[in-house]
Amino acid sequence: MRHTYVLGNWKQNHLRAEAAATAQGIAEGLAQATAGALHLSAGVAPTFVALDVVRPHCRLGTGASGLALLAQDVGAQESGAFTGEVGPAMLKDAGVFAAIVGHSERRAKYGDDAMVADKVAACLAADLHVVLCCGESLEQRDAGEHENVVISQLSEALSKVENEAIDPRVVFAYEPVWAIGTGRTASPEQASEMHGAIRAWLRESYGNAGEARSILYGGSVKPANAGALITAPDIDGFLVGGASLDAGSFLDIVRAAAAARQA
Ligand code: PGA
Repeated sequence: MRHTYVLGNWKQNHLRAEAAATAQGIAEGLAQATAGALHLSAGVAPTFVALDVVRPHCRLGTGASGLALLAQDVGAQESGAFTGEVGPAMLKDAGVFAAIVGHSERRAKYGDDAMVADKVAACLAADLHVVLCCGESLEQRDAGEHENVVISQLSEALSKVENEAIDPRVVFAYEPVWAIGTGRTASPEQASEMHGAIRAWLRESYGNAGEARSILYGGSVKPANAGALITAPDIDGFLVGGASLDAGSFLDIVRAAAAARQA
């Protein structure tokens, strides 16, 4: 059974006190929200400057119960003269379990396309887990190029990982750009179709190891649509933006995922 993740990406939101309070609210409700569910984990990605105040509400490592601490991005180098960057070893040192890499907002606004492969490799070298994002624009979908775009993003992103098998520390997140922050969610069928294409590519490239990797969906996931999405084939959880900012709505999404993953 593949692992299910429900991860919150807080983006540039929440001052430190709000971040701590939201994390506390999620941590307090998590055991109840995930009751009876198998292989389900939750995590949150605050801004770098709020990591330390969120960390006390998180469990370090992969424990099934307890909230994981994630970072929204990571530097591509180990250390050195890279003003403004925060490297993988620094994130690990701050108690971070995984970094989001290749989010479409970073690809579009900060030139991350060119750095994704280095970031993935740097994370794995430092033993930091990776949530690797991919997703097409509306123009690319309308032109029928969406599957090719996503598969080439992924093969580029993994081009500097040396393992023959896909590293179990990598989790995938399909986030169509047209669904992020727009309130326009991909339908379960659209999401499933892409997840199936990613799964087929993973299987073809990495065999059984590809079969075992989780593929999350992101893009306007809300409590109201989470139940239909999580029961669609090949959807192994969510990367949630806006609806993760409030502990109650995030826990409702966790609950919807947990309901579909009962032992
Ligand atoms: P959204 O963001 O849920 O607000 O659409 C998702 C994401 O960007 O990870």
